[in-house]
Amino acid sequence: MAIVTGAAQGIGRKIAEGLAGEGARVVVADVRAAEPVAQAIHGLAVEVDVSDQLACERMAQTAIDAFGRIDVLVNNAGIYTSLVPTAFEQLSVEEWKRVFDVNVLGMYLATRAVAPFMRQAGAGRIINLASGTPYKGVPFFLHYVASKGAVIAMTRGLAKELGGDNVLVNAVAPGFTMSDGVLSNPVQLEQLQEVSAKARVLVRDQYPEDVVGAVLFFAGEASSFITGQSLVVDGGAYFN
Ligand SMILES: NC(=O)c1ccc[n+]([C@@H]2O[C@H](COP(=O)([O-])OP(=O)(O)OC[C@H]3O[C@@H](n4cnc5c(N)ncnc54)[C@H](O)[C@@H]3O)[C@@H](O)[C@H]2O)c1
Repeated sequence: MAIVTGAAQGIGRKIAEGLAGEGARVVVADVRAAEPVAQAIHGLAVEVDVSDQLACERMAQTAIDAFGRIDVLVNNAGIYTSLVPTAFEQLSVEEWKRVFDVNVLGMYLATRAVAPFMRQAGAGRIINLASGTPYKGVPFFLHYVASKGAVIAMTRGLAKELGGDNVLVNAVAPGFTMSDGVLSNPVQLEQLQEVSAKARVLVRDQYPEDVVGAVLFFAGEASSFITGQSLVVDGGAYFN
C-alpha cells in the first residue's frame, strides 16, 4: 500500500499509476481534487496540504483505516512549476517561505506522520522527490534549489534515524520535466525546455514517465539494501 503526495497531476500522477500497475493500493493525496486519478487506478483520494501537520496525520490515519498498513510513502508534493525564474535579489520572502513550507516542512510532516506505522511494522520505504537543481546549482530559483538540497540532506539524515527499523529512505532527482505544471507555465517552457534538452546526453524532453522506474525501484525488493541515496534521473545532464 502506497501514499503518493501531490498525485493529482504531473510526476506524482504517473508515479501513482506506476505503483498501481505493480499491484499496490494507492492513496492519491493532494491539496487539489484527486478523485479522477484515484478512480482511474482504483485508489483512494485524500485531501491534504502537506504543510499542515494535522492534515498529514489525518492522511496517514486514513490510509491505515482503509488498508491497515503503509508500505510506501512518496513525498512528491512540491512547489516548482508555478515559479518564474527570478534573480535571488528579487525573490519575495513570502514566496521563499511558501516554497520551504511545502518542499521541506511538508516532506518532514508527511514523513513524521507515516513513520510510526512503518516503524511498528518493521518495514517501509520513503521516496523523496528531490531535483537535479542543487547538484547543478541552477540559477534564478534559489529558494527552490535550496529546498531540494534540503530534501537530499533530509533523505540521508532520515535514512540513519529510520534504518534500525528497516525503513529505507531514498530520493529521486529528476531533471526539467514536462509535467502538467510545467506545460502550463509559458515562462519556464520558453526559458528552460530547449536548453535542458540540449544539455542532456539523451537529447530529448524529459517526461513524468521517465521518473517512474526509479521510484518503483526504490519501492521494490530490488533495492532492499539501499538507503540514504539520491538517484539523478535526467538523461545524463548531470553525473552524480
Ligand atoms: N517538473 C520538473 O521539472 C521537476 C524537476 C525536478 C523535480 N520536480 C519535483 O517533482 C515533484 C512534482 O513536480 P511536477 O512537475 O509534477 O509538479 P506539478 O505542479 O505538475 O504537480 C504538483 C502537484 O503537487 C500538488 N501540491 C502542491 N502543493 C501541495 C501541498 N501543499 N500539499 C499537497 N499537494 C500539493 C499540486 O496540487 C499538484 O497536483 C515536485 O516535488 C517537484 O519539485 C519537478
